[in-house]
Amino acid sequence: MKPGRFITFEGIDGAGKSSHLDAMAAWARERGHDVVLTREPGGTALAERLRELVLHAPMDALTEALLVFAARRDHLVQLIEPALARGSLVLCDRFTDASFAYQGGGRGFSLEVLGRLEDWVQQGRQPDLTLWFDLPAATAAQRRGAVRAPDRFEAQDLAFFERVSAGYAQRASAAPERFARLHAQGERPAVWAEIQDVMRTLAWW
Ligand code: TYD
Repeated sequence: MKPGRFITFEGIDGAGKSSHLDAMAAWARERGHDVVLTREPGGTALAERLRELVLHAPMDALTEALLVFAARRDHLVQLIEPALARGSLVLCDRFTDASFAYQGGGRGFSLEVLGRLEDWVQQGRQPDLTLWFDLPAATAAQRRGAVRAPDRFEAQDLAFFERVSAGYAQRASAAPERFARLHAQGERPAVWAEIQDVMRTLAWW
């Protein structure tokens, strides 16, 4: 049986990661992988309910951090760990790096507390690969344009997203072995080519 693999997709809102998730799922399925496509916050019935609250209900930064990690715990226990144990390829739209980037960088919440939550909730589980869609915060803002009903994060200003970007950069430099930084300001085919290069360098396929 092929070993399970866990790939996360990260970047600020407007980086374009979601469109590549579907392409990656199709690409991996063609190569015979059992693919599980999921997202955070969310991925299970309970975690999707928590997502609604996190994205739309006003709350303080600790409550927000606790809810994203509560959602993550349910997601790991109910979906991610069983899928990896079956040998599936799990593609996840955002994971814990987003908590460090948004709650830590964006909101200025304690990185130390986030680190403790990460340890409790994940028990050592980390992605095998994180594709980081990096681009200037101003470019991402232009791409997002006028979102109809922005959620609590999309409604933030440029300075917030600059701090989120810096949060991602910090996580990437702390774990260079699992991060692949993509030049996400490029055209879609160029970004896809970069992703293909990353996949070719892995011996998983
Ligand atoms: P996003 O993944 O961008 O979904 P959509 O494409 O449907 O808008 O939205 C999720 C939001 O949640 C995003 O703005 C980042 C935020 N978020 C956190 O603040 N912390 C987290 O730990 C996670 C996983 C997401």
